Amino acid sequence: MAEIGTDIAKASQLLREGKLVGMPTETVYGLAGNALNPEAVTAIFETKKRPSFDPLIVHVGNLEQVYAYIRFFPEELMVLAEIFWPGPLTLLLPKKDEIPHLVTSGLDTVAVRIPGHSLTRELLLNLDFPLAAPSANPFGYISPTSALHVQEQLGGKIPYILDGGDCSVGLESTIVGIEQGQVIVYRLGGIPVSAIEQVVGPVLILPQSSSNPKAPGMLKSHYAPKTPVVLGNLDTLVAEFIERGDKFGVLSFTKSFPDLPENCQVVLSPSGGLGEAARNLFSGMRLLDKADVSVILAEELPEKDLGKAINDRLRRAAAK
Ligand code: TXA
Ligand code: MG
Repeated sequence: MAEIGTDIAKASQLLREGKLVGMPTETVYGLAGNALNPEAVTAIFETKKRPSFDPLIVHVGNLEQVYAYIRFFPEELMVLAEIFWPGPLTLLLPKKDEIPHLVTSGLDTVAVRIPGHSLTRELLLNLDFPLAAPSANPFGYISPTSALHVQEQLGGKIPYILDGGDCSVGLESTIVGIEQGQVIVYRLGGIPVSAIEQVVGPVLILPQSSSNPKAPGMLKSHYAPKTPVVLGNLDTLVAEFIERGDKFGVLSFTKSFPDLPENCQVVLSPSGGLGEAARNLFSGMRLLDKADVSVILAEELPEKDLGKAINDRLRRAAAK
């Protein structure tokens, strides 16, 4: 199993040796390796069992480090960077040759992010190379939001997990790029589209499917527990599944069901807060996935602000 701790010097040393380290960020935990070292990058793909056509996000500590790896910074994206970095925003920028093709799956843009987690920024500022880091989960499964989640799934394959506590956002970063002057959101995430539109005006949200190679992480079935997820009206679904006699779990926004066993239900936010619901979403899905149930019943949240990204993850989890 991996050692879990808060030793930045140790994490840095392992990364310099080309090893992989579990890394906290405010969104989800990443599986980090030296982005300039093709062997480390190959190990990331192998450890996650991730297809090589799905490019990685490159993490850096400050804007100066960003400029070292990109050819230029489109103005609209620069404005977003100034407002939302460090934070849950990933920008697609024209890459320099220093970034190996392996990292970008051959694309001529590189996905870059300055994460907001203080421990991780300290780590990044301590290194003279950027860190490629996908979410630290096996490909297709739910992203980890605690060091323990990383340990459970990848602990046998990596030497160290830097423990930064529970993720404060709980959803992956919002991925934004620009094509022919049009700002495009490729993945809904920790920064709501409404916040981005307040800065750059109307954006295009690219409908995602496996036919869109721009963000393969947006394959329809992704972020999925092993237990099937059914989305709908919870009162109706619960009544239906009680009738059937199946063992089921419930993932609700605010409401608890006093007649159902407590260990089979997760309330994302009793007070109806979307931020709190986002923070609890992935750990809630994991909890129910481990419970002895044959199906997880869930409901969509209000389709606004972070609710849009939460619903996106719920729909992908429910997709066959
Ligand atoms: O919040 C996050 O973004 C987390 C933390 C660890 O930073 N990382 C994360 O990485 O979610 P990952 O690998 O699970 O998702 C990265 C997504 C993938 O869907 C990938 O296809 C897309 O970013 N991506 C990476 N580079 C790209 C590029 N050049 N063009 C288009 N999409 C890209
Ligand atoms: Mg991922």
